[in-house]
Amino acid sequence: MENFDFYNPVKILFGKGKIAELGKHIPKGAKILMTYGGGSIKKNGVYDQVMDALKDYSITEFGGIEPNPHFETLMKAVEIVRNEGIDFLLPVGGGSVLDGTKFIAAAVHYEGDDEWDILAKRAEINKAVDLGAVLTLAATGSEMNSGGVITKAATQEKLAFGNPLLFPKFSVLDPETTYSLPMRQITNGIVDAYVHVMEQYLTYPVNSPVQDRFSEGLLLTLIEEGPKALATETPDYENRANLMWAATMALNGLIGMGVKSDWATHMIGHELTAFHGIDHAVTLAIVLPGLLNKLKEERGEKLLQYAERVWNITEGTEEERKMLAIQKTEEFFQSVGIATRLGDHSVGQDSIDTISKRFIDRGYVGMLPDVAAADVAEILESRL
Ligand code: NZQ
Ligand code: ZN
Repeated sequence: MENFDFYNPVKILFGKGKIAELGKHIPKGAKILMTYGGGSIKKNGVYDQVMDALKDYSITEFGGIEPNPHFETLMKAVEIVRNEGIDFLLPVGGGSVLDGTKFIAAAVHYEGDDEWDILAKRAEINKAVDLGAVLTLAATGSEMNSGGVITKAATQEKLAFGNPLLFPKFSVLDPETTYSLPMRQITNGIVDAYVHVMEQYLTYPVNSPVQDRFSEGLLLTLIEEGPKALATETPDYENRANLMWAATMALNGLIGMGVKSDWATHMIGHELTAFHGIDHAVTLAIVLPGLLNKLKEERGEKLLQYAERVWNITEGTEEERKMLAIQKTEEFFQSVGIATRLGDHSVGQDSIDTISKRFIDRGYVGMLPDVAAADVAEILESRL
């Protein structure tokens, strides 16, 4: 196992009714900016629950944060925070609202000329506004990590940022808030969490049985609980609770400690969203099978372990077992309702050329040297 520092200070308030406890976790007298998305929280009662819990606070609202949150939108909130002396941010929504609010938290105190440099130049973040979150969509893990992903609409760029100052002070995870999710977003959550695990697990062996078995447990949970959530019109509390916790655990840092993480699938996927607006999870389901197929020799040892422990594949040659594991992975994504080919989303060779050039200019893809910028075209072409 490799050396690591593990730090995760996020207090998790998990379970039904937990929104009512919000007031215990926000400093008395705080001036709060409550951020949210396109209005789902007003339809499903979450907005009212938050307002009831925070009757004694001064609250300003900022709605309209879009999926794949836009820098341009978020800068309007940055101005509000600066002008109104806001000292606590409360995102209520999915990963986009949480990520967008982490950006607001960092940008408010940014002293450089252009806040976009936090993304484009990885400019240092020395100070951030405190935030606590209410999560309504189980998928990204943003509720228990210190990162985010922001899109600049003007240039079609989608980039990640992060800093330990951006860990939420707390996150409320009430599985009942997910009852109003459309099937498409439940599917997205299952697949995003699945690929988060794969990015950290399906790389190279470093003798890390704890991380490996945690990861395999999360994958098996998503395979078991995901389809149950989609099969019923009436949400089941235990099912939603298990999905929510699995998604949080998939990207709160724990399973990635001491192991070799990749993130190439995410990096390529972000470009598909930036140029074509394809849902984040869908891009991952498109890219991952192509990436695994390309790396089936290099990552063979982990692929065989995955085949056996997650998919019970024990017969056949090594090549056959690896191929079957990749096929089972793609079939799982399809079984929860995702179209896994670029052609299904009207993406063709011209777009592959543009994306490939972007990586060649950038000079890297993920965190491991086994996926080079020059490989992106081949990976995407295999998914046409
Ligand atoms: O905007 P509203 O009206 O709230 O509707 C949202 C949105 O349309 C809706 N929704 C959320 N909760 C709901 C609900 N609808 C009904 N009932 C509810 N309870 O769902 C739609 C999608 O929301 P969004 O927040 O965009 O989805 P998700 O949580 O999947 O977040 C995706 C974003 O997170 C980033 C992605 O790149 C993407 O921008 N990621 C963030 C990560 C992180 N911070 O660690 C890691 C991930 O890999 C990912 O990249
Ligand atoms: Zn993701």
